[in-house]
Amino acid sequence: MPLFTVDERCIQCGLCSELCVARIIKMNDGEGPEVLPEDEEKCITCGQCVSFCPTSACFLDIQPLEDRIEVLPELMPSAEIAETFLRSRRSVRRYKSESVDESLVHRIIETCRYAPTASNSQLVRWVVTSDREQTKKLGGMVVDTFRGMLSIDIEEKVAHMLGAVVRAWDAGHDVIFRTAPHLAVAVFDRKHTFQEDAAIALTYFELAAHANEIGCCWAGFFTTAARQSSEIQKFLGVGENEMIVGGQMFGYPSGLGLSHILPPRKKASLTWI
Ligand SMILES: Cc1cc2nc3c(=O)[nH]c(=O)nc-3n(C[C@H](O)[C@H](O)[C@H](O)COP(=O)(O)O)c2cc1C
Repeated sequence: MPLFTVDERCIQCGLCSELCVARIIKMNDGEGPEVLPEDEEKCITCGQCVSFCPTSACFLDIQPLEDRIEVLPELMPSAEIAETFLRSRRSVRRYKSESVDESLVHRIIETCRYAPTASNSQLVRWVVTSDREQTKKLGGMVVDTFRGMLSIDIEEKVAHMLGAVVRAWDAGHDVIFRTAPHLAVAVFDRKHTFQEDAAIALTYFELAAHANEIGCCWAGFFTTAARQSSEIQKFLGVGENEMIVGGQMFGYPSGLGLSHILPPRKKASLTWI
């Protein structure tokens, strides 16, 4: 089965060939577009040909039909609705202890599959803590890592912040995961150079969660500790060739619905050149 095919709907407009990043879709005079067998390995499977074909005639054999989902224009938000959605996202730091429905977590991660990745590598891997108990245990490991860091010579400003975190934890405040029942960790292959992929995926996660009324917050303290601690990496099943790029704590918000007023923000800094 060839990697790229077109069906009878092809109007030979050549758009697939023009959009192909690898420039391997060739227009055969009168016979329609094709990818030569020897060029197939150059395809990055980005699916530009499939997505933008005006008659939906292009197919990639790596995409099963059930994964070929139509974009319905009637489901697109207006610019105002989309902007309100994006601007109303807030970090949530008040959670119910109950676990989020597993199917909802899958739904959020499904949306993350569509985040852009360099060369369409799609190498982000997710590790998710399954309940509050696991997440709390991980929080304890983060604090223990900070205790260890405080016993060595670190920058005064950092020591001050980590010291405050440890004291708050010891006083019974979960300042690491804010009582969230879950943490979603984006893990990345070290061989691949673009860490941005995982950061973008985490951003998609937060926005997809917002769309499903699930609260999220970036877990920066966790990331700091996780990059230092082989115990945390082991606990999460992160291999030597992988790195932890970041995490989102998440759960059902407790007593918080949609935010009411947009927060103050610095004026945008924009330079036209
Ligand atoms: C990389 C990163 C790390 C963060 N780490 C933490 C964290 O460890 N704990 C926390 O409560 N919030 C954390 N935050 C959330 C920020 O404090 C928050 O995004 C910022 O105050 C703006 O508020 P908003 O998200 O409600 O708009 C982090 C945010 C980012 C982007």
